[in-house]
Amino acid sequence: KRHPSSSLLLFGATGDLAKRMLLPSLYALHEDELIAADLRIVGTARSELSDEEFRALAKEALDQYLPDDRKDEAKIASFLKHLQYQPLDASTIEGFDDLAAKLGDISGGLSIFLSTAPFLFEPTIKGLQSAGLAGDNVRIGLEKPLGNDLASSAKINDAVASAFGEDRIFRIDHYLGKETVQNLMALRFANMMFEPLWNANHIDHVQITISETVGLEGRHGFYDETGALRDMVQNHMLQLLALIAMEPPVDYDAASVRDEKVKVLRSLRPVSPEEMVRGQYGSGAVQGEAVEGYADDLGEASDTETFVAIKAHVDSWRWQGVPFYLRTGKRMTERRSEIVIQFKCVPHNIFAGRGGRLDANRLVIRLQPEEYVRLMVMAKQPSMDREGVTLREVPLDLSLTHAFAKARRRIAYERLLLDLIDGDPTLFVRRDEVEAQWRWVDGIRAIWAKEDAPPKRYGAGSWGPSAAIALTERDGVTWHE
Ligand code: BG6
Repeated sequence: KRHPSSSLLLFGATGDLAKRMLLPSLYALHEDELIAADLRIVGTARSELSDEEFRALAKEALDQYLPDDRKDEAKIASFLKHLQYQPLDASTIEGFDDLAAKLGDISGGLSIFLSTAPFLFEPTIKGLQSAGLAGDNVRIGLEKPLGNDLASSAKINDAVASAFGEDRIFRIDHYLGKETVQNLMALRFANMMFEPLWNANHIDHVQITISETVGLEGRHGFYDETGALRDMVQNHMLQLLALIAMEPPVDYDAASVRDEKVKVLRSLRPVSPEEMVRGQYGSGAVQGEAVEGYADDLGEASDTETFVAIKAHVDSWRWQGVPFYLRTGKRMTERRSEIVIQFKCVPHNIFAGRGGRLDANRLVIRLQPEEYVRLMVMAKQPSMDREGVTLREVPLDLSLTHAFAKARRRIAYERLLLDLIDGDPTLFVRRDEVEAQWRWVDGIRAIWAKEDAPPKRYGAGSWGPSAAIALTERDGVTWHE
């Protein structure tokens, strides 16, 4: 049951995420009349801004980040009326009473979105609690990073849990807000033909790739502390893996879906040293443009990984013996988020006697930048040759962009903010999921710490270090490129 809040409180309201994603998303919700006309959005951050100055900042962000065809001045002006601002130093408790005064009556429900530095989480929770902003009708959305290992994440989770019940905590993994990611569940559970084959009897292996062309994007301190494993694998890639590997939930609701995902995350086998590759980009060229290596980008030498490839295993009946190859990195050949389901070969090739060679079926699910599902099937090449048969792999193509041409492509935060305001936690990550993710990732980091070896070098603009290619080749598997 939904209980829309009548106020939204945005921590980190002058930050980069707010400008690039949150304000444009809220504008979109206003534009489509998905939020109440009287929803109050109160921004807070350290800068001493007035309401008017915050509106000006928001206007500037919209001008910069909205596509031209959606810049409707009248609509923008009516959106800005939602916005108010209260300066706050969240590291001390003092300002929180003023914040509560600014919010005034919150009996209509309050949703809070916390997009701040991790060290501010605990003081913020304390401040909210002391100012009466953590009652039963308040829920809280938490943006990553939620800690940097299991212990620190548990500490944050404990602090939040001391003020908010789990059903009021909305942990964000923005991948879950993407339509194409939600579509994974529709593909699997709204169709008859995939699920009977979706197991170790028929699937040879799974590949999940999130490759990016961007480098540090100005986030030097954060990224160098974090690295690709914790920036991308711990959250986004493991959530994708869980959606691909989970059993059918009994219902499409928060408890059922998350119960199934967490089972997968708990079934992840600890990775052994020879099943992973850490990489760091050197100089090179990305899509024709020369770029510097990571150390030059950073301004100092560093052993942080900007690429990681892992052969993962899900220890369950369904997936025994099916490797899940994961890879992600910065400054790679192209931007691509993709899942490849590689089926096994048919048990017997009846065309072999006439020279017909078979490739196994492959399902390619492209999440971005293109959005499609492509099933590679074998077909007979037209020919009057009666002695020989030539078989060719052809795509059975479903372009989601095409099928839903009228639907605007939304950014993930539109859906997530709406769900937070409305109180639907299905697309948010539960505490047991996050902790299972960290447990697995901590195991990998412990091995790296023991090995104490520098990351393998790869040229910017490539598909990663050669060791990542060797990781699959020795199983007779080629990365899908
Ligand atoms: C973020 C990471 O969570 O996801 C970034 O911190 C990364 O480093 C981004 O670039 C990728 O998201 P998307 O939606 O562009 O695939």
